[in-house]
Amino acid sequence: MKIAIGNDHTAVEMKTAVKAHLEEKGIQVTDLGTNETGSCDYPVYGEKVARAVAEGQADLGIAICGTGLGISLAANKVKGIRACVCSEPYTAKMSRLHNNCNMLCFGARVVGVEMAKMIVDTWLDTEFEGGRHQRRVDMIMEIEGR
Ligand code: RB5
Repeated sequence: MKIAIGNDHTAVEMKTAVKAHLEEKGIQVTDLGTNETGSCDYPVYGEKVARAVAEGQADLGIAICGTGLGISLAANKVKGIRACVCSEPYTAKMSRLHNNCNMLCFGARVVGVEMAKMIVDTWLDTEFEGGRHQRRVDMIMEIEGR
C-alpha cells in the first residue's frame, strides 16, 4: 500500500505524526510537502496529492490543512478524485464504505493527533461495499464528463 500525503503550513506537525504512524504500520508514504511552517497555499498541496493518486503513483491520499476544507476542495478538482473531510472515525468509515473516497482530508486545527490516527486507521481498514453504492459513485464520477 502506497500513500501520498500533503499539507499546508498549519499541519506540518500533524503530517509528521501521521506519516510516522503510517510508516510504523509498514505503509509506504510519499511526502509531497510542505515541511515549512511559513505561510503557503493549500491548493498546491491538495493538487499534488490528488495528482499522485489520480495518476496511480499512490493508492490513496491524505491531505491536511487547518480545517481540511480548502485542501479537499482543491483535491476534488482533479479528475478521478473523491476527497472527503472527516473529523471523526464514523465519517471516515462511511467515506470508504459508501463513497469509495480515495483521499482523506482533515483539519490540524480541528482534530488532535490521537483522533487523527484513529480516523486514518479506520479509513484504511474499511473497504468499499460496492453494490448500490457503486452506481451512486459512478453517478458522481459521470458529472466530471459533463
Ligand atoms: C490557513 O490559514 C487556512 O485557511 C487553511 O489551512 C485551511 O484551513 C483552508 O481551508
